[in-house]
Order: sequence, then structure tokens, then C-alpha cells
Amino acid sequence: MAILDIAKLGNPILRKVAAEVTEAESRNAAFQGFIDDMIETMQARDGVGLAAPQVFVSKQVIVIKSNPNSRYPSAPQLSLLIMLNPEITYRSEEEVEGWEGCLSLDNLRGKVPRSVKVGVKGFNRYMEPIAFDAEGFLAVVIQHETDHLIGKVFLDRMNDFSTLSHLAEFDRFWAPRPVAVA
Ligand code: NI
Repeated sequence: MAILDIAKLGNPILRKVAAEVTEAESRNAAFQGFIDDMIETMQARDGVGLAAPQVFVSKQVIVIKSNPNSRYPSAPQLSLLIMLNPEITYRSEEEVEGWEGCLSLDNLRGKVPRSVKVGVKGFNRYMEPIAFDAEGFLAVVIQHETDHLIGKVFLDRMNDFSTLSHLAEFDRFWAPRPVAVA
């Protein structure tokens, strides 16, 4: 396993639409190893989610996991989710504004409106179909990650930049609110 480098805002790969993973690719041992590297990278960098374009692979792969830790004691608990070719099939009209950060945007936090509930379908790491409804923090992280697969970052989803904050000022004025760094 390996901790991968993170693509930062300005790198064109973050603005591309990612390619679907094929069934043949999903059976490739190197690809399975890549998924493990994504999980290790997400955890090593204190993210609650990671999308493959953030580690320079323009493919539709996302990983999500969250648990409280020393850096984010108020982080919600989310069990490991690995999805290939995820697709949001439903977004609730009802939205909630929550704090987000991004491993590709160092030390920035901002409040982003997201649907409270989403329907999701896609495939697990072995290309078996999965579909479920998500709400709350998981729904937010799924929206953040699937945005990365269509070349969007959380800044694009903010209503305005009045809450955009440097990390030190977020910690000073707004922490310990839960924050989705993904
Ligand atoms: Ni992100």
C-alpha cells in the first residue's frame, strides 16, 4: 500500500469528467491495489472521502470513511464505502448548509448548501451493483465526492464566498463544528 500525492486546485485533472471504470479494469489486481492506496491516502491525510481524480487518476472511483479522531473529535462515524461509477439518482429539494474542506484545496473551509437526502447507485469494488439512500453527513460527502468526478469542487457549490475561511480562522471562530474534508 502507498500514500498517494494529492492533485491541488489548478491542476486540470480536477476539472475533467472522469471515465467510467470497466468490468475488466475492476478485475485487475493493480486496480484493486489502487483502491487500497486511496483508502490509505484518505486516512493518512485525515479526509473523510477521496475521489480518484484527486490522486491523478481520472476514473470514477470514490472512497468514504469517517470516525472521530484527534484532529476532528466531532467527526461523525461512517463505515467504509467504496464505489465505482457512482451516480446520484435523487436529490432532495431540502438543503442544509454545512462546512466543507477539500484535500485538494489546502487549509480552506466554507459553508456549502447540499441536499439533505440523496439516492445513490453504482458498484462496489468488485463491480457488483449497489444502491441506497443516504442522508445527513454521508449524503454531503457523497455529493462532494461525486462532484469531483464531474470536475467540480466545493467552491463551485457555495452560494457566495462570505464564509470562505482559512483553516486557522475556522479553528478560531467556528470549530469544533463537524466539517466534511474530502
Ligand atoms: Ni474534495
